[in-house]
Amino acid sequence: MRLHGETARLARKRLLVGSLLTLLGTLGYYGTYAYVIYQTVAGVLTIGMLTFLAGAIAGASSNIQLVFSTFSTIADQALFVGDLLDFFAVKPVVSSKPGAIAVPRPIRQGFEFRNVSFAYPNGREVLSGVSFKLSPGERIALVGENGQGKTTIVKLLTRLYDPSGGQILLDGVDLREYDQEDLWREIGVIFQDFMRYDLTATENIAMGRIEEKDNIFRIRSAAQKSLAEEVIRKLPHGYDQRLGTRFDGGTDLSGGEWQKLALARAYLREAQVLVLDEPTASLDAKSEHEVFQRFAELTRGRMAMLISHRFSTVRMADRIFVLQGGRIAEEGPHDQLMQNGGRYAEMFELQAASYR
Ligand SMILES: Nc1ncnc2c1ncn2[C@@H]1O[C@H](COP(=O)(O)OP(=O)(O)O)[C@@H](O)[C@H]1O
Ligand SMILES: [Mg+2]
Repeated sequence: MRLHGETARLARKRLLVGSLLTLLGTLGYYGTYAYVIYQTVAGVLTIGMLTFLAGAIAGASSNIQLVFSTFSTIADQALFVGDLLDFFAVKPVVSSKPGAIAVPRPIRQGFEFRNVSFAYPNGREVLSGVSFKLSPGERIALVGENGQGKTTIVKLLTRLYDPSGGQILLDGVDLREYDQEDLWREIGVIFQDFMRYDLTATENIAMGRIEEKDNIFRIRSAAQKSLAEEVIRKLPHGYDQRLGTRFDGGTDLSGGEWQKLALARAYLREAQVLVLDEPTASLDAKSEHEVFQRFAELTRGRMAMLISHRFSTVRMADRIFVLQGGRIAEEGPHDQLMQNGGRYAEMFELQAASYR
């Protein structure tokens, strides 16, 4: 809204100043003409002088106009430079402290959320007293209705934010002690709104780990793992096919096909932790099942966290956490949660019924 107001204010100002300048210019232009003609009629100037001056006036006028429009273009562009500088000046909410340590390779004990609370800046508390562990080799799932804080947990795990209360530990050490970039390297996340780059298929995958952009072997192997290869094989130019519709010659993919590319990006990273936050929202139930089945196989021995609304997928996890009202309401493997007959069992039955 503020931006809209500024833009409107700027447009009005430009219109006003622009009209005034045009009026002034036009008055000056014809005024000069009138003066020269008057002088000719009065016999001060000859017809030859009149012709010469008329040409000179026209030339001067267009030159002056050019100077003004150049200034106005420069002023316009300067506004964009301002935006760019503002963008560069944006600092992340959290940053590595001096002497930050590297993330252990391999991670031995895993992550622990210990009584974690969190509120967004100027927001109400989203998480209150959340505790859970994610151990190496384990695949956990988070379920819960929209807005229960599932994505917030991912943002805390990746340290996009620090908790307002409690602690997050990695191998027994507070997450804040670790180097942030290192942490990001070790956690591959695919968010719900994953990126679609208007680049080639190869480049789209290489975005996961740009150092590997020329390593065709690694890129292909990541594509095989994520099932993106089948998608790429069908493209007219294969791996060199430009994707997206922004540029000429680009081919658009379906949501599910983009998703497989995003997944390949995560596999290329070889991160120790993989997080899938509802990345399959655009997939039909069968494709989602296929993607997660694949995911489950490939994350064997690594840590994985998956967030999905589809219980056919969620049930593959070793342990499931049900988030409700900012707390973990239930936890355990699928069979146990079904036996308990609580919220999870209720949600599962509800969804199963809708498929029958
Ligand atoms: N950047 C933010 N600033 C303020 N509130 C936010 C922000 N992101 C999410 N929220 C709020 O936090 C709550 C939890 O959001 P989220 O973790 O995205 O839920 P989920 O992933 O379970 O759907 C919601 O009420 C949401 O409106
Ligand atoms: Mg979410």
